[in-house]
Amino acid sequence: MTTNEAMQARWDAVMMRNYGTPPIAISRGEGARVWDVEGREYLDLLGGIAVSSLGHAHPAIVDAVTRQASQVMHTSNFYMHEPGIALAERLARLLGEPTRVFLCQDGATANEAALKIVRKHFQGERAEIVSTNGSFHGRTLGALSVTGNPAKRIPFEPLPGPVTFVDFGDVNALSAAVTRSTAAVILEPLQGEGGIIAPTEGYLQGAREICDRTGALLIIDEVQSGIGRTGAWLASGSAGVVPDIVTLAKGLAGGMPLGAVLATGLAATTFAPGDHGSTFGGNPVSCAAALAVLETIERDGLLSHVTAVGQRWAAGFDSIVHPLLASHRGVGLWRALELSDDKAPQFEAAARRHGFLVNAVRPNAIRLAPPLILTNEQADSFLATLPAILDHSL
Ligand SMILES: Cc1ncc(COP(=O)(O)O)c(C=O)c1O
Repeated sequence: MTTNEAMQARWDAVMMRNYGTPPIAISRGEGARVWDVEGREYLDLLGGIAVSSLGHAHPAIVDAVTRQASQVMHTSNFYMHEPGIALAERLARLLGEPTRVFLCQDGATANEAALKIVRKHFQGERAEIVSTNGSFHGRTLGALSVTGNPAKRIPFEPLPGPVTFVDFGDVNALSAAVTRSTAAVILEPLQGEGGIIAPTEGYLQGAREICDRTGALLIIDEVQSGIGRTGAWLASGSAGVVPDIVTLAKGLAGGMPLGAVLATGLAATTFAPGDHGSTFGGNPVSCAAALAVLETIERDGLLSHVTAVGQRWAAGFDSIVHPLLASHRGVGLWRALELSDDKAPQFEAAARRHGFLVNAVRPNAIRLAPPLILTNEQADSFLATLPAILDHSL
């Protein structure tokens, strides 16, 4: 049997330095539980950063992937395949308006495609994008250009532009920044990497009105928030907003790499043959996995389950009084615990020692984005251990 330490030494010797050295190596998972290479068990409350929507080794995904892999794994975009069309048909129904779909590999490539649609739509007449401080839209140059985190952006400048950043949740600032020369506004419904920050009530509706008034396109980045995470298919849908473009990835295929761009109105027909493409985007195995995810969420009533377990957590967090626990926020199974001190890395390590995987999303905030199948008992086990984890994080 290998050890986490031995894996870390191999990692350090060969991997580029873009990630820190991970603390453990995961060798298998089942449901919401995973095991490291030393056989230690954890309750996975991060879900591969909001990706493993049905947990690990879910029979519906394993079955769909196995079946599809044994039939055809790749066709190229010169040919069609059933899972790709079936998935696009299903995703196209999410916005409640005629929608066209582009399938890609992940969140960044979904946002790249969205930004290219915007560029093509305005044909040089308008180019400016308005984004928000604290946002995250991906690491490729286009997605990075609209990411409101200077530390991530500055080393890679010059980036595509122009981009204007305004404070998230401030509808007046958005209104002042968006003019008739703005091509698009890009927003997350809640800022995920920013620490699960919800905007003020009515913000997304305000953004929709501002875009309607000025003719700018509204891109809603649901890469982290979409496909059940908040207890709804789309967080923007719960706010009653229909964007021009929605981007999806992360939980869509439950762990297989897949992204999607949904577009309505003129944005749906902007791309002409040759404008955009991807060798692996919309791969049949990933599409089969996504269909299994969508069918399972529907069949097992997971949207209401997510809401119920999320509320159970919220009530539980409310009842815990501890000097390090300042507050909590979030919706569905997408929560952040705010600490009264910058102890999130210590909390993350203490949680791991107690058998829970969580994420220090900010120096003073812990992100929870578990599989949507998390049971009440599993949610309660975290609540029961939370005071001890907080004690050991001080
Ligand atoms: C809202 C949002 N958009 C885009 C991305 C980028 O996705 P990916 O890492 O799949 O490229 C992320 C990743 O965290 C995200 O949270």
